[in-house]
Amino acid sequence: MRGLLVISFTVLLLALLSAPSGLWAGDDGFAEKIIYSQCKNCHRFKGKPTSKFELKAPDLMWSGVKYQRPWLIRWLMGKERNLYPNSYRWDKSTFSGKHMVLMREEATVIADYMEKTFRDSRIKKSFVDMSTFTEMEASLGANIFREYSCMGCHQIKDDEGKNIGGPISVDLFDAGNRYTLDWWSRFAENPQDFTPHSGEYLADISLRKARHIIGYLMTLGVKDFKFYEPWNSAAFKKADAKRGAKVYKEYCVQCHGPQGKGDGPGAKGLDPKPAVHADLPLSDFPDDYLYNLIYYGGKSVGKSSNMPDWGLTLPEQSLANVIAYVRSTFKGQ
Ligand code: HEC
Ligand code: HEC
Ligand code: HEC
Repeated sequence: MRGLLVISFTVLLLALLSAPSGLWAGDDGFAEKIIYSQCKNCHRFKGKPTSKFELKAPDLMWSGVKYQRPWLIRWLMGKERNLYPNSYRWDKSTFSGKHMVLMREEATVIADYMEKTFRDSRIKKSFVDMSTFTEMEASLGANIFREYSCMGCHQIKDDEGKNIGGPISVDLFDAGNRYTLDWWSRFAENPQDFTPHSGEYLADISLRKARHIIGYLMTLGVKDFKFYEPWNSAAFKKADAKRGAKVYKEYCVQCHGPQGKGDGPGAKGLDPKPAVHADLPLSDFPDDYLYNLIYYGGKSVGKSSNMPDWGLTLPEQSLANVIAYVRSTFKGQ
């Protein structure tokens, strides 16, 4: 039976290969045949989310919206490493060999078919906009990855390119080339909706932190990811120091004092004390440093968390204005 299947598969292939190449495009019949005769032996293409202990391979009901197309095609052509270091079913280790390999044309036809067939109406446009994602946000996301135990079960790479983290589930060091932002954002919202037993590690997280961890994963493996640089934005180009003086009075003087001498009414009892701006050459501090310090607070740049974060309080223009003010006012002694 198996031998027969392989033969008829080869005949079909040869027939399709010798046909004019236009035939490949949108050949749903071919895709259906492979999916329902081969892939379905291991994967499910419909049904409700089920514990992985009932499955042989990852579910593909939502595969039309889960993967980035170039990744999916590479995967189907056998050009990607396995994702599960201990095999998908770590409790059984039944499958640790190579995944079924298709030729480029076959992989493309199947990827097209999956993309239009296996959709999931729960998956909407993500609330995360990667075009405004900053390097600092990625590093905050990396912290969450550690703090929320993600590292306990998923591997990433360290600075030297070595795999680190627990090998129990998929490795994530190439996540940014694999998942669509929309699928991953929805998955993060409640993993149980896709794979029961996967845990709810982010259930108590704020929207801001969710953006950090979601965006962070979308940068992993992406060569030269282009981070947004707020200090080069329009708001900074038209920053106004005079308006910044007002922001300084309302938000900074309480600690840093009216002349930036670190003697505001809020300074008493603080350790470390508020910086004495009057002594600092803030005019020469790097843009990204000042931005991150004020937007994310002292702790984001290795300073005390007594220096609060203002990112959720000050609109971007006010932030740009107050930076223009401190730069033009405090130039060191
Ligand atoms: C013999 C069983 C088997 C067959 C047949 C099979 N797969 Fe798989 N597939 C697996 C296993 C097991 C994994 C997880 C492997 C890993 O990454 O470690 C997997 C992974 C995948 C993934 C990545 C899943 C994810 O999200 O992690 C895709 C996509 C996929 N297969 C598609 C297909 C398609 C399409 C076919 C048919 C052309 C197919 N597979 C045939 C067993 C199979
Ligand atoms: C106790 C182990 C464990 C921890 C901790 C954990 N995960 Fe997972 N994760 C899983 C399992 C199990 C799955 C379902 C896939 C599978 O069968 O392995 C999963 C699935 C995922 C997927 C989707 C994988 C895919 O291709 O379908 C992503 C992305 C992910 N986790 C990210 C995270 C992040 C981010 C964290 C930390 C907030 C985290 N995980 C914490 C076990 C874990
Ligand atoms: C609740 C008190 C408080 C408020 C309000 C406050 N800061 Fe600070 N700020 C601090 C403290 C404390 C430090 C010193 C941190 C350290 O030394 O680790 C600091 C340090 C700084 C520094 C110096 C960083 C460095 O590298 O030396 C700058 C610049 C700064 N704050 C700007 C501001 C601006 C702009 C505002 C208003 C938007 C502001 N701060 C509001 C407490 C405050």
